[in-house]
Amino acid sequence: PLRSPPPPLPPPPPSSRRHTPRALMAQLTVASPTNIAVIKYWGKRDTALNLPINSSVSLTINQADLRTVTTVTVSKDFEKDRLWLNGEEEDVSASKRVQKVFAMVRGRSRQWEGMKVHVVSVNNFPTAAGLASSAAGYAALAFALGKLYAVEESYPGELSTIARVGSGSACRSLAGGFVAWDMGSREDGADSCARQVAPAEHWPELQVLILVVSDKKKAVSSTAGMQTAVETSPLLAHRAAHVVPARMLAMEAAYLKKDFAAFAQLAMQDSNQFHATCLDTFPPIFYLNDVSRAVIQFVHAFNSACGETRMGYTFDAGPNAVLLVQQQHAVQALAAVLTHFPAEPGSEASYVNRPAMQQEAMALG
Ligand code: DP6
Repeated sequence: PLRSPPPPLPPPPPSSRRHTPRALMAQLTVASPTNIAVIKYWGKRDTALNLPINSSVSLTINQADLRTVTTVTVSKDFEKDRLWLNGEEEDVSASKRVQKVFAMVRGRSRQWEGMKVHVVSVNNFPTAAGLASSAAGYAALAFALGKLYAVEESYPGELSTIARVGSGSACRSLAGGFVAWDMGSREDGADSCARQVAPAEHWPELQVLILVVSDKKKAVSSTAGMQTAVETSPLLAHRAAHVVPARMLAMEAAYLKKDFAAFAQLAMQDSNQFHATCLDTFPPIFYLNDVSRAVIQFVHAFNSACGETRMGYTFDAGPNAVLLVQQQHAVQALAAVLTHFPAEPGSEASYVNRPAMQQEAMALG
């Protein structure tokens, strides 16, 4: 005979619900791109919070090309916070920047209280090549921790202020396309954050060619160089107060109008003025070398031979050139670059950019 079904299970007593174990670990992986400033950030009004003396604006580079991939894991079994960069363990307790990023994230969340975090971060480009690796790195760290700890932004750009405390330029990597970092005026830095001017789809033809002139680590770090500049360069003070504000407006307008000539000219002028402030720093700092200067002359000669501005350049705190081009002129530009600056034997001279350009380049041989 069929037995009657068993009675439904009673609900668990309240005490057993209280003892349901919390999750014991969680893990998250993010990828963050780097960015290249076309109006440069150089100089801090507050060194602890990385508050700048002027606003800046940058292009976020296509993720596939220059990026940091960061995995964060939180576990009750971890005894301390630890961080590995490109396979080497870094001393987290000695890095004030990393400590500050952790503190800002934890201060905005009730999750994972008392638990420690392990961070594993890998760049897909040489860290020493001076290609803004700290921007991608701290953007990835702030974003990954922010997500892990479920930090809700109380205003747009709040997460970028956490990246900024890690490295100023990192705040601009939290958005894609063309991204401004408004200097803000508050002492706590809450309004010194990133703002997307326009997404990359607004101007997909705009591309960059990165010429690695040297992959040696720079002699003077950005952090140290800009601090000496703030202390000694009258040109830097003039630039921040009287040049950059108007240039930011003109640059954003040029990007929105897709006016390449205006965009490239402003980028070249701003790069040149930034390096002029380095020469005006006492003792002076030299980031450009003879090859960098030859690239500058080459771009101006190329544009005058074309009868219009088809190429721009910008240099960060190192000798490597970032050339600005539109897709329709990229192959011509690259061919001219390689004619004048042949790649060293054994080094790579190839597009790592959009597939359409690769095809065009291959067609040209
Ligand atoms: C020349 O952001 O590396 O690339 O805030 O001290 O970490 P810290 O400096 P960092 O400086 C970048 C300087 C620059 C210009 C720019 O990216 O705007």
